[in-house]
Amino acid sequence: MSEASRAACVIGWPVAHSRSPMIHNYWIRQHGIAGEYRREAVTAEDFVAFASDLAGHGYAGANITIPHKEAALAISQPDDRAKAVGAANTLWLDNGALRSTNTDVEGFLDNLDASAPGWDRELETALVLGAGGAARAIVFGLLGRGAKAVYVANRTLPRARALRERFGSAVHPVGWDEVGGLLASAGLLVNTTSLGMHGQPPLSVKVDDLPASAVVADIVYVPLETELLAAARRRGLRTADGLGMLLYQAVRAFSLFFGVRPEVTPELRAMVETDLQKGK
Ligand code: ATR
Repeated sequence: MSEASRAACVIGWPVAHSRSPMIHNYWIRQHGIAGEYRREAVTAEDFVAFASDLAGHGYAGANITIPHKEAALAISQPDDRAKAVGAANTLWLDNGALRSTNTDVEGFLDNLDASAPGWDRELETALVLGAGGAARAIVFGLLGRGAKAVYVANRTLPRARALRERFGSAVHPVGWDEVGGLLASAGLLVNTTSLGMHGQPPLSVKVDDLPASAVVADIVYVPLETELLAAARRRGLRTADGLGMLLYQAVRAFSLFFGVRPEVTPELRAMVETDLQKGK
């Protein structure tokens, strides 16, 4: 590669399913950048050696996916978001320093801003289903936008309690059986679990019990329109889907790697949608 060209990659194990190359290479082409974005299949055993020497592998930065997000945090200088979430999904070289962030926070927020403008204007209470890594990014983002109370419902209650310990008393951990009773007061409902994903059990939530002004978000994007989102739309509620979050979380990573802030265009979305519908 010429000196002016730049490369970035997604590091994971497995990594074949990742749509990041499709998204980033679209923006590379669109902006006429001399660059390339690749997949790197790296085992947990080899991750630290690989990611600690991104430059040696020819990379200016990398997205990090399963199972390396905690390890990526440990070997880098994390920003406040990565620290708060406890996981990094983006590494980049900044004057020789290996820095990290977690772009799921803004991916979630920017997607909501684009899909349901004003969603946070009078947000009092949010109800988040699930308490894993994605939930941590989302709860952190919601508190940053001024949510007064964030109820976190999880099958395994101690994991929900851990979010209160991490983020403070605005987080209210609850058991799965309490979801039904909380719907009427939830201005925002977010599914961060894998329920409703293709091949997983369904998510049963009575969308009819939400307020008429509620917004519903799902991080699942296979299928594109989950049962939860379909039911919310039938009721006329505003929604934000998982593909939108996937696309928006890539924006900042791209600008860190290639120095241009790209846009989530309808053409990009359609391209990734078509690829997802091929069933891979
Ligand atoms: P991620 O990093 O994508 O959030 P994760 O940390 O594995 O992934 O979290 C998955 C979430 O989906 C968890 O909240 C999990 O609940 P548990 O903490 O009880 O495991 C939730 N989840 C997965 N399968 C579920 C199921 N069948 N019923 C209820 N919750 C489920």
